[in-house]
Parts: sequence; structure tokens; C-alpha cells
Amino acid sequence: MSFEKKICITGGAGFIGSHVVRLFVTKYPQYQIVNLDKLTYAGNLENLKDIENAPNYVFEKGDIVDENFVNQLFGKYQFDGVIHLAAESHVDRSITDPMAFVKTNVIGTCNLLNAAKTIWKDNKEGKRFYHVSTDEVYGELHNPEEFFLETTSYDPRSPYSASKASSDHFVRAYHNTYGLPILVSNCSNNYGPNHFPEKLIPLMINNIRNSKPLPVYGKGENVRDWLFVKDHARAIDVIFHEGTNGGTYNIGGNNEWKNIDLVHLLCDIMDQKLGKAAGTSRGLITYVKDRAGHDLRYAIDATKLMTELGWEPSVTFEQGLAQTVDWYFDNWDWIDNITSGSYEKYYQEMYEAS
Ligand code: NAD
Ligand code: TYD
Repeated sequence: MSFEKKICITGGAGFIGSHVVRLFVTKYPQYQIVNLDKLTYAGNLENLKDIENAPNYVFEKGDIVDENFVNQLFGKYQFDGVIHLAAESHVDRSITDPMAFVKTNVIGTCNLLNAAKTIWKDNKEGKRFYHVSTDEVYGELHNPEEFFLETTSYDPRSPYSASKASSDHFVRAYHNTYGLPILVSNCSNNYGPNHFPEKLIPLMINNIRNSKPLPVYGKGENVRDWLFVKDHARAIDVIFHEGTNGGTYNIGGNNEWKNIDLVHLLCDIMDQKLGKAAGTSRGLITYVKDRAGHDLRYAIDATKLMTELGWEPSVTFEQGLAQTVDWYFDNWDWIDNITSGSYEKYYQEMYEAS
């Protein structure tokens, strides 16, 4: 079978990557989509069960830190495009094990850049290396009137955001130095189906269901800007196809929530779904020791993406959150399979230490 383009999506078995893989496999049957993933604790092929037999989909298990493996894979497929999502992604883990973040997020990204540079050496026409990054590289905001713009200076404050910032710099440096065709996007916090239950929203949903304590860091005053994961995937599609070579795009839903307000909302939604008396789950809220170096507020200005490329979120937060909660209710097996294993042990240790 011959394909119009061969695209490597890294981290496709993870939370956001699985939504991007599904979108590309179903929307573009003319592309071959190769999902390159190491299947770390965060990678789960269950996320892609519905498309695993699609004729234009291939899974390749491997580690982006392994330079030989990456070079061989790029040599084998001669990709036309790369959409790079593979990363260590959890801030708390970056505090306990920063080197894992340096290896995957920095060295892994550089291995991919080198491999793309090699195979595109003689012809860069139509090629694209798209690096998926985070708003956390911009640091934290204090003034409520301020938002992150594409021109905001980098000020990463956690090992996670420092590793992502470093990888962003390398991607742009390869564009400037070697003319590699690149794109970078920096997105706000995602939520939705398949979100790994160490992150705030799925952790709270699962703990409420199990009547377990709801650990809120510090006073719960920190603010995050939440975007539905399928809208992030749609933005990646638009930017990959229509973004300007060398360009950066901020992605966000203009949807800021203080953590404690969001946890209250989740408690109320869950009480209703579980048929519990209003206010029951709020009683599970437990204030725990704050995260070290906890960024106060993130907020994205996505005007450039909206005006230049016409993207906008397709769902409101209410709709997205309702779809998310419904998905977890229909897929408790998915979360139980994860939480019965090593992750549960990690979480227990984290919680006991706080
Ligand atoms: P995730 O942790 O759910 O998934 C990461 C995936 O990468 C997993 O499938 C994992 O197996 C794979 N992976 C990790 N190390 C690897 C390695 N060395 N080699 C190959 N594969 C490896 O992450 P996510 O939340 O889906 O985030 C995806 C990307 O989007 C990341 O680059 C992250 O920085 C970025 N991002 C995430 C958010 C968010 O809210 N989750 C927001 C903005 C940007
Ligand atoms: P998280 O989902 O880890 O995303 P990020 O740190 O990348 O923003 O956390 C979102 C917010 O919720 C962040 O301010 C930390 C806070 N938080 C808690 O209060 N309790 C928790 O158990 C977790 C996981 C996060």
C-alpha cells in the first residue's frame, strides 16, 4: 500500500498522543501513521484499541533516548512528518527524578531532531517536525491581567518545565542553524478521556468514586487554564497542516480555574452522578503539603492561533467535563487496571510522604 505521507507520532500511547493518533488515523486514511512509544507507566495501548487494526496505523515500541533505534526507524520509514509528544510529563515525578526528564525530554528530542535532519538533508520540501510543548515553560503569572503570549520570555521553574523549555530551544535552534522545518506549540493543561490518574482531574474523579481523600496541595489557590484534550488534538492538526514553518502557537481554552474551585465542582458533579447527598464528597477534601516550587497561575492567550489559523475550542468546559466524567463512568476498568499496579504504590508513597 502506498501512502501520500508517512508521519511519526511519538508518545501516541499516552493521554494526548492517543487522541492525536486517533484523529490522524481516522481523518487521513491517505497518511501512514507510525506510533512510536516506549510504553512507560504512562503509555497504554488500551487507549487505541478501536483503531489498532486500521490499515494506515502501525505501532513501533521503542525508546527515543536510544539513538540507534531512532536512526534505524527513521531510515526504515523515511518519514515526511514528525509530531513529537513523547515525554515525561508529570511535575511531581520531575521533582523526585529530574534525570528521567533530562533523558527523555531533552536527549530524546535531540535524537529525533538529528534523525529528521539526516533523512531530510537533501529535500526539506513539505517536511515538518512538530514539537508539542507546554505553557509551563513561561513560568508563573501573578498579575491577573497578564497572559502568556508566544513572545513571553521563558522562565521554567520545575525540572519538568526546564526540560521542556530546553527541548523547545533545541527545536528552534535546529531551524535556525540547519534550516530544519519545525513548528512548536505551547498548550495549557489538558483534561479528558484517558487522562492518567496521577493528574488532578482524573485523580479526583477516581478518589471521589472510591471515597478516598482528595489531596489538595497547599491552600488550593493555584490557577490552571484547562482545555479539552480533543480540542488540543484539533489544534495540532490545524497547526501541522497550516502553521508557518518555524512558527510558535499558543493553545488554550481561556478557561482558568483555581484548584479548590475545580475540586468543589468535581465533587458536586460526582455527588449527583453517584446519587449521593449534595456536599458529601467535599468532605473528602484534604489539604496536603504544597508541591515544591508550585507555580501560582498559568493562563494562555491563544489569539494568534484563533485569528491566523481559525481554530477555536469545540466544547465549553461544562460540556467537556461532562463528557470526561461520563467516560470514566463507562471505563472504570481502564482506571482500575492502572491503579492496581505499580502506579498505586507510587501514589501511596507520595501521599504518605506529604
Ligand atoms: P503522557 O505522560 O500521558 O504520555 C507520554 C507518552 O510518551 C506515553 O505514552 C509514554 O509511554 C511515552 N514516552 C515517555 N517516554 C518515552 C521515551 N523515552 N520514548 C518513547 N516514548 C516515551 O503525556 P501527555 O499528558 O499525553 O503529554 C504529551 C505531550 O504533551 C508531552 O510532551 C507534554 O509535555 C505535552 N503537554 C501536555 C499537557 C497536559 O496537560 N497533559 C499540556 C501541554 C503540553
Ligand atoms: P497536575 O494535574 O499535576 O498538572 P500541572 O502540575 O502540570 O499543572 O496539577 C494541576 C494542579 O493541581 C497543580 O496546581 C497541582 C494541583 N494538584 C493538587 O492540588 N493535588 C493533586 O493531587 C495533584 C495531582 C495536583
